[in-house]
Amino acid sequence: MKVLHVSTECYPAAKAGGMGDVVGSLPKYLKKHGIQADVIIPKYATKWFHDKAYETVFSGSFYQRGSYIQYAIQKVRSSGLDFDLYCADIPGKFDRDSIYLGWDGHGFHDEIDRNIAFQRVALSWLNDESTNYDLVHCHDHMTGLIPFFMKYGYEFRSLQQMPSFFTIHNAAYYGQMSWNNRDVLPAFEDQYAGLLDWDNTIHSLATAVKCATVVNTVSPSYMEEIINVNSSLAYLFRGEKHKCIGILNGIDNDEWDTKTDQLIKYNRKSSWVDFKQKNKEIFAEEYGLDPNKPWFSFIGRFSEQKGVDTLAPAIQAVYEQNNNACFVILGSGDKRLEHQISSIETPGIVKTFIMYNEAIAHQIYASCDFILMPSRFEPCGLNQMFAMRYGTIPVVRSTGGLKDTVVESAEDGTGFTYQGSNSYELAEAMKRAQSTYEDHNNFKKLRTRCTRKNFSWDKSAEEYANQYKKLKHD
Ligand code: GLC
Repeated sequence: MKVLHVSTECYPAAKAGGMGDVVGSLPKYLKKHGIQADVIIPKYATKWFHDKAYETVFSGSFYQRGSYIQYAIQKVRSSGLDFDLYCADIPGKFDRDSIYLGWDGHGFHDEIDRNIAFQRVALSWLNDESTNYDLVHCHDHMTGLIPFFMKYGYEFRSLQQMPSFFTIHNAAYYGQMSWNNRDVLPAFEDQYAGLLDWDNTIHSLATAVKCATVVNTVSPSYMEEIINVNSSLAYLFRGEKHKCIGILNGIDNDEWDTKTDQLIKYNRKSSWVDFKQKNKEIFAEEYGLDPNKPWFSFIGRFSEQKGVDTLAPAIQAVYEQNNNACFVILGSGDKRLEHQISSIETPGIVKTFIMYNEAIAHQIYASCDFILMPSRFEPCGLNQMFAMRYGTIPVVRSTGGLKDTVVESAEDGTGFTYQGSNSYELAEAMKRAQSTYEDHNNFKKLRTRCTRKNFSWDKSAEEYANQYKKLKHD
């Protein structure tokens, strides 16, 4: 069976968040379950694309707002990936040195036109007789109109019967646009215009939920939360409940392996105690922290979603109480939050890195004792899985995928959890973590339970593969 993933991110070619990790690793594991999964992303002008070889497999043209655009689909010859990666070269749209954001840190002003152009190009290629995919798998709102156009677009007739899968990595982004943009869309059967509509706008996420054959979120609890929350979209999800499922993301265990990881300073031989201690000492030496105290860390996007605003007060509360912990924070995003986080930098106690850096992220997982995830909502969250695999214990707000992967319990727990999105509850959870750290025996047992968890893609890929196969036979 042959599946095409259509996405705006695929690690390592293009990644802005967890969706990139998912699209970059799921195809590799699908192969083990008899699925050939290829990926198509836009061709950006970012560094990764510079030194690759390309083979054009399809080309075409279209008009957008009066401009004639000639595009090409290229297969990346030397991607180094375990699956075929294609990119859509659409001049004037994606040939920029960033995926989503302009120099001012805001989204590109022509985001709508870019997304429509990419979807149109992917659809045209899929519709061409040179391709023979059995199913299309779209990711997030940027590709949410595809399931609609497969069914009702005049130019894509051969796709009418093809099943489509739509994965929601984050339901907070809608890809909403005014109906004034209608002329930018490919032509479609008029009587179905209502399917594009939600709240009197063209709504990419809602369209995908209505039109895709199967819709999934990246954890079961997140789907439940979306369905049960009190919002206009929840009403839509309830109506489409019969085709909505939750499939927990996995991680790439080959990429995340303490024994072979090239980005960390000391690889694990066999002992976990030795591995954590050595990495902690190296990191402590480099950044001036105390390796004899418990270390809490945070890695990720600075946004309201991630609850970053609750971090600084909680950290202050914990170290003011007993001055017996260190804190390491890596991330960037919202300028106000960047400012708030840098302002708590304290030599010897709080180390902050206001940036995105994959190597430092790996080193934090290898050396820290705890990872904090105070998310307001979390469709899945991958950091808690990376962390557990590196012997770093999660302290999480119990929501979405975090609820599905971390439990607090004396006998068989894998971390510390709390309910309310506030710094008080976070600080209390951190204090419980601190006392467990002092109780060496119990702390070691907890860490062993974490490192024994297996969040490999194997299981989730099998679930996706089974869903795909069901659609093929329906
Ligand atoms: C988004 C979500 C995150 C999820 C990731 C991959 O970034 O916010 O929770 O793990 O997508 O699906």
